[in-house]
Amino acid sequence: MTDAHAAVPPPLATALAHAGQEAVLRFWPTLDAAGRARLLGQLAVIDWHEFETLRRLALARDADHAPTPLDLSAASTPPCLRLRDAANPLPPATAIAAGERLLASGLVGAILVAGGQGTRLGCTGPKGLVRVGPVSRASLFDVLFGRLRAIQRRFGKHVPLAIMTSSATDADTRRFLRDSAHGGLDPDFVHVFRQHDLPTLDARFGTLLLDAPDHLAMAPDGHGGMLVALHESGGLDWFGRHGVKHLASFQVDNPLALPLDREFLGYHLLSKADFTTQVVLKREPGERVGIVVAQAGRHAVVEYSDLSPALAAERRPDGRLRFHAGSIAVHCFTKAFLDRAAARTDSLPLHLAHKAVPCLDDTGTLVRPAAPNAIKFERFIFDLMPLADRVTVVEIEARDGFAPLKNPAGSAADAPEHVHAALVDHARRLLAEAGVTVADGIDVELDAATILDASDIAAVLPRGTHITVPQVIRGA
Ligand code: UTP
Repeated sequence: MTDAHAAVPPPLATALAHAGQEAVLRFWPTLDAAGRARLLGQLAVIDWHEFETLRRLALARDADHAPTPLDLSAASTPPCLRLRDAANPLPPATAIAAGERLLASGLVGAILVAGGQGTRLGCTGPKGLVRVGPVSRASLFDVLFGRLRAIQRRFGKHVPLAIMTSSATDADTRRFLRDSAHGGLDPDFVHVFRQHDLPTLDARFGTLLLDAPDHLAMAPDGHGGMLVALHESGGLDWFGRHGVKHLASFQVDNPLALPLDREFLGYHLLSKADFTTQVVLKREPGERVGIVVAQAGRHAVVEYSDLSPALAAERRPDGRLRFHAGSIAVHCFTKAFLDRAAARTDSLPLHLAHKAVPCLDDTGTLVRPAAPNAIKFERFIFDLMPLADRVTVVEIEARDGFAPLKNPAGSAADAPEHVHAALVDHARRLLAEAGVTVADGIDVELDAATILDASDIAAVLPRGTHITVPQVIRGA
């Protein structure tokens, strides 16, 4: 250790030497006290045992992904209940009544995962702040919190909400909550918790990358980081204190998400599932969506990249793809199941992704690579599925509950213009159900905080109303 390294705490210097990562200190002599403190702060929380695992995974080029937990050649699509389908073994009306009782008894909580960096969309802060309201320009947070308020109002009970943030989204999300009076939610029923970061490694050498002389390139540990972070933040106990027995989880980038749909919750309850999940029909082999599969009584979500083109294209005699249950990341767990999973340290495997990550070269110049140069590590919530003894799969219509915002304008799918069109289409269909028509080409929007379904529209607009100017329809 040179004089310039003198301020590095000896245990850390030893750990770095042991892990062969002294190069992260190459700019140390040039750093001021604040810069040194910043870098030391990051290094201090690295679990060097875990780092060794990450390094091994990064360098084992054939182990690109967490292994698929099931034998896909023997797997099939599990039976799916379908919303509003009278042919279901459990009748929709019975499920709706059960879901309503559940919501009215205050036994349901919600988890919103909002820690993603939104790199494809080009976010600089939380995706939740992106404006999607076709007329109102309401943000994703406004829409999702509004819908939660509407549910609370209708069923007369709070739905405690835990919001997961990350280093990329925490400060701005907390600011939003402060400035918006918690999005209109009772702060006693909102719990914000922050997921962990994991180091991003150089794909060639498995070494730590710097994105500034005093800063390691780190990234949130995937939406599956929710399990450990919720547990460590006391969130599971917090839900317990609020009497919650079932937890619905959803993602911040889907403004149509229906985690608290009565019928969905009813199927979850009546089928006594540990883990109930929503899917949409995957119609074409090339659709980039994970699929729910089952084999020998176990269920799993398989990423589209892990499905061979041949298996992806296989069709059943009824014309549906053999693997047609497209996962949309809306789940409901029993709290007991999450408690059990959180108590295990090996619950969720690490997935690797090759990404182009800006980093410093040896001269300290920030390089923005055009091709992937780094490995990022993530855990996924859906990897909890194989641990569940009872899984229920509920198919919904994509147009009713799935409008993900992933890509920038002009992209082929999941771009702002697709979300806009999906929200307007959804509003038009609910208005039509209430006997309200809308002139061609006119944008309409339903206020999420006051309109859950056509009955809320009927309370404010008489049948036969014709809308000719863009507007937001607000309920009573
Ligand atoms: P995506 O996997 O689509 O990631 O997240 P993203 O960050 O939104 O976008 P890209 O991949 O960088 O372009 C799906 C959901 O999971 C959350 C996101 O906030 C989104 O709600 N998520 C993702 C987390 O909460 N934490 C993570 O580490 C990753």
